[in-house]
Formats: sequence, structure tokens, C-alpha cells
Amino acid sequence: MGNITFTMIKPEAVEAGSSGAIFKIIEENNFRIVSLKKVLLSAEKASKFYEVHKDRPFYSELVEYMTSGPIFAAILEKDNAVLDFRELIGSTNPSEAKDGTIRKLFAESMAKNAIHGSDSDENAIIESDFHFDSNERF
Ligand code: CMP
Repeated sequence: MGNITFTMIKPEAVEAGSSGAIFKIIEENNFRIVSLKKVLLSAEKASKFYEVHKDRPFYSELVEYMTSGPIFAAILEKDNAVLDFRELIGSTNPSEAKDGTIRKLFAESMAKNAIHGSDSDENAIIESDFHFDSNERF
């Protein structure tokens, strides 16, 4: 059971001014912010981050969208972080997200779904390492 997960507040939620409200929910649910930065992803970096989806029909739309404006990237710490965070953010498709989840509250659509959460402990480490150096974690 891992104790970190990686998240991104996606461009439409940042643009809408929802980042503070989302981090408030995250902290109220006992996740500790280990690292946090606002960044405009390059096409190269976004393509690499989502490489696992490269054969999916939505891949180019996903990369274009994730580079359309700045995101907040963060490492979060809590016992059972990956599963608890996925519960907090809700289903990938906001129309299926449960009441009270971050996606139910802030997502616009499947593509513009407000927030990312790692899907496994292994990916949480890979994704955190992709965005943050060891001297950026506290
Ligand atoms: P996330 O789980 O953070 O990472 C992969 C992203 O791909 C996912 O969020 C969605 O934003 C996006 N995605 C997944 N399925 C679709 C789809 N069918 N159409 C458009 N975007 C999708």
C-alpha cells in the first residue's frame, strides 16, 4: 500500500479559477501536499506523459488539451493515497462521478475532466519522478 499519488489540476479547471477550491477539498481529505507547481506542459512532455494512450483515438485531442493552458502538478501523501484519491476525484466520465467527488463538482466532460490521479502505486512514482526532482519534495 503506497503513500503517495500524483495529480494534475487540468487546464479548464485552472482557467475557471477552481484550483484553490480543489486543493481545499484535497487538504480537507487529509492529503498532504509534498510538491506543487504551476506549469505549461510542452507538447513533447504531454505526449510522453500520456504515451500509454498513444494508440487511443483521443490521444491527439488529449495532448492538445493538456498543453492548451497551465496546469497545477502535485505530489500528495496519505496512507493508501492512490485508491483514496481516486475515490475522492470520482469516475473519469463526470456523468458517472458520484456526488461530492471533485469531478462531479468541477469536470466539464470526459476530455475536460478537471483533475488527474495516478492509477497505481507504480505509476504514482513514475509520474511524480517525471514532474519533480528529489529537492522539490518536502
Ligand atoms: P486521466 O485519467 O487523467 O488520463 C487520461 C485521460 O484521457 C483521462 O483522464 C481523460 O481526460 C482522457 N480520456 C479518457 N477517455 C477519453 C475519451 N473517451 N475521450 C476523450 N478523452 C478521454
